[in-house]
Amino acid sequence: MSKHYEGLINKYRTRLPVTASTPVVTLNEGNTPLIELMNLPAQIGGNHRILCKFEGLNPTGSFKDRGMTMAVTKAVESGAKAIICASTGNTSAAAAAYAARAGIKSFVLIPDGKIALGKLSQAMMHGATVLQIKGNFDDGMRLVQELSSSMPLNLVNSINPYRLQGQKTIAFEVIEALGDAPDFHVLPVGNAGNISAHWIGYSEAAGVTCGSCNHCGGNCAYLSPKVSSKRPVMVGYQASGAAPFLRNAMVDSPETLATAIRIGHPVSWKLAWAAQKESNGWFNECTDDEILVAQKLLAEREGIFCEPASAITIAGLMKDLKADKFPTGSTIVCTLTGHGLKDPDIAIKQSAAPIVVQAERDAIADVIAKKL
Ligand code: F0G
Repeated sequence: MSKHYEGLINKYRTRLPVTASTPVVTLNEGNTPLIELMNLPAQIGGNHRILCKFEGLNPTGSFKDRGMTMAVTKAVESGAKAIICASTGNTSAAAAAYAARAGIKSFVLIPDGKIALGKLSQAMMHGATVLQIKGNFDDGMRLVQELSSSMPLNLVNSINPYRLQGQKTIAFEVIEALGDAPDFHVLPVGNAGNISAHWIGYSEAAGVTCGSCNHCGGNCAYLSPKVSSKRPVMVGYQASGAAPFLRNAMVDSPETLATAIRIGHPVSWKLAWAAQKESNGWFNECTDDEILVAQKLLAEREGIFCEPASAITIAGLMKDLKADKFPTGSTIVCTLTGHGLKDPDIAIKQSAAPIVVQAERDAIADVIAKKL
């Protein structure tokens, strides 16, 4: 193998459903940094080791690239010429980019007016056919399932099991970085594919078959080698206005400014419950205000800029730390799912406006002197 990192399929091919002749479609996704928080832990409580897996540093700026390299690779292998997905933004950006890479067509359904600008620009720039539907993500999800069953379109939402296969590799990277699985892994939950994928990865790494895998049907081919001694407790956070796992029921009109997780009918409902139950984990919810506070705190205190849906991980963690849910000395890994640049509107709205000043030395020095 070359020393140059060539993406997660090449790195983990013995643990993924590919063969030597599978035509790998990659943008060298994965291999994201696991960043230990230095300043926040003292402020948000507890003597814990808190690390962030910054998935915003993937090629299209979110964890979706992990799933999309697998989904598009398998689509191309099967001869597909076009892919389709519904998306709150990040999936469409990744689908468009990987389709461009593979030289096939992409069609993306996005909710009317509820998609962050950065994500929309990506899908448009990569040449996807962008269909803005008069409905929400859940409507889009239903429609792409109907369309892909009757037209030559390969569905690349996370209901496609290859997506979860790609996304499970995040667990392998965390284990490699820490030497073992962490005690807790906390992350946002929307359509619920990602928490299920994390659980598949952690389970396979520990040599255990899990109920989150809808690919192997309980006959997992990837249980060896065993590379971790345990599995983490999984904790999922949802926005209060879009929290089916907290209500234990689907939510018909989900609302949150964290548009990435504005989802009321998660398709990986059963798989995510399996992850929660088997790991003895839990779900919790955060308000939009709590999400924004956490996003700003992480950006200002740690230098990490993630999007609101990712910041819910820190908001939820702060809440659960306060409630003493983690034993002292725990190692807690947080998945920061997407980059803050995806949603510049929200970032600008909650930050101090630039100071308008004459292009003169003294005027500028004056302003600086007041701030020093
Ligand atoms: N964080 C971000 C930034 C997301 O874009 C998503 C999902 C999630 C968290 C939740 O992950 O759905 O696997 O539970 N975004 C999808 C999309 C729905 O269309 O981009 P999940």
